[in-house]
Amino acid sequence: MNTSYCLRGSIVHTPLFGIMECIPDSYIVVINGRTAGLFSSLPLEYTDLPLYDYTGKIITPAFCDMHLHAPQYPMLGLGMDLQLLEWLNTYTFVTEQKFKDSEFARKVYSALAKKLVECGTTRVCMFSSIHYDATMILMEELENAGISGYVGKVNMDRNSPDYLLETTQESIEQTRRWIEESKKRFTHISPIITPRFTPSCTDELMEALGKFSQEYDLPIQSHLSENTDECAWVRELCPDCPQYWESYEKRGLFNSRTIMAHCVYSNFAEREAMRKHGVWVAHCPDSNSNLSSGIAPVRKMLREGLSVALGSDIAGGAEISMLKVVGQAIRVSKLRYLKSDKAEDFLTVAEALYLATSAGQEFFGEKAGFAVGNEFHALVFDDSALPPTDIINLQERMERLIYLADSSAIVDRFACKKL
Ligand code: GUN
Ligand code: FE
Repeated sequence: MNTSYCLRGSIVHTPLFGIMECIPDSYIVVINGRTAGLFSSLPLEYTDLPLYDYTGKIITPAFCDMHLHAPQYPMLGLGMDLQLLEWLNTYTFVTEQKFKDSEFARKVYSALAKKLVECGTTRVCMFSSIHYDATMILMEELENAGISGYVGKVNMDRNSPDYLLETTQESIEQTRRWIEESKKRFTHISPIITPRFTPSCTDELMEALGKFSQEYDLPIQSHLSENTDECAWVRELCPDCPQYWESYEKRGLFNSRTIMAHCVYSNFAEREAMRKHGVWVAHCPDSNSNLSSGIAPVRKMLREGLSVALGSDIAGGAEISMLKVVGQAIRVSKLRYLKSDKAEDFLTVAEALYLATSAGQEFFGEKAGFAVGNEFHALVFDDSALPPTDIINLQERMERLIYLADSSAIVDRFACKKL
C-alpha cells in the first residue's frame, strides 16, 4: 500500500482554536503516511508521486471521536426517555453483557468499524466492555478498518448486576493480560485504562489501575460529573472525597493523559483541579441532551484554559457522525449562552470544528490541523449535492457541510493510506 502521494483540492483546517484556515486549490504532500507540506503549486521534487485530484472538493482533517462505547452500538437510539442511572440499569448493562459471546462481538464490531470509517471518524478513544475476548476482537476490527487510537477494557467490580460484574482480582488479572497481549498484537490501536466510573469500581481496583497506568505508561479514560443523581451517589460512596474528581486523583488516575467524559456538573473547584492536573474533557453534547444530563459549560472551560475535545458517546449519544456532533455542540452552547443572559459565549463553527479534529489530535500527541509531521488523517467532501447557491466562499462551504451534510458527502478518506 502506497503511503506517499499528493492531493489536490481546497483545504480547510483549524491550526488554532477559533481559526479556520481556508486555502483554495492547493496541494498536500504526504510522505510515508505523514503530512510533508501544504503548497500552492506542486514542488518539482514531488511530481513523480501519485496524485489524487480533488479539484472543486474540500479536504479537511478526519474526525477524532474522543468518547464512545462500542458495545452500546446495538442499542443506538433506544431508551432515551430515561436518565443516566436508570438508563444504565435498564438498557446498557443488559446490552453490554451480550459481548461475552465472541461471535456476537465480531458481528457488531465489524459493522461499527465500517460505520465509523463511512462517517469519517479515523481516530477514537473508545470504551469496550469488561470482556477480554470481545475487547481483543474490537481492537482487531478497528485496526483492520484503518482506524487508530485507544480502546479500553472496562473495569467494574461493584454496584453492577451479577452478569456484568468482575471480582476485584479477576478485573486486575484480566486487565494485565489484556494490556500485555494488546500491546504486542496491534500497531495503531493501543490500550487505555478504563474504570467505568467511580460507582462501578472499588478503591482497591482503582488503585491497581492507577499503578497499571504508571507501570505501562498508559492514558486513562472515565466519566465525571455527568448527572446530578450520579454526583450525589459518589458523595455517598466516597465520604473521603468531598469532590468527585478526588476519587480518581487519590488513586493516580487524574493527570494530563486522562480524558473524562461530560463534566457537566464540574464546579469551579473541580474545573481548577482539572486544569492544574492537565486533565482533558470529552464533551458529548448529544448524549447530554438525550439523557437529560444538562449542558456542559464548555466555552467557560475553554476560557479557563482546560483542554476539551468532542465525543459522540454512543449510545447515550445517538449520532455516530461527528459532523452531527459538531452541530450539536454549537446548538447546546447557544442554549447556555441564552441561559446565561449572554454572559457565556457560544461555540463558533471554527471552534467546534477544532474540538472535533485538532483537539483530539493533540490528545494523541500530534499538532493541530494539517501540521507537517502529523499522521495524515483526512476527508474529502463533495458539497455539490447541497442546495444550489452562488454566494459562498470556502469557509461558508465548510459551515454548510457541518449544518447540512451527512456522510454521503464524504467521497474519500485517508488514515495514513487511502482507505
Ligand atoms: N457513566 C457510566 N457508564 C456510562 C455509560 O455507559 N454512558 C454514559 N453516558 N455515562 C456513563
Ligand atoms: Fe460514556
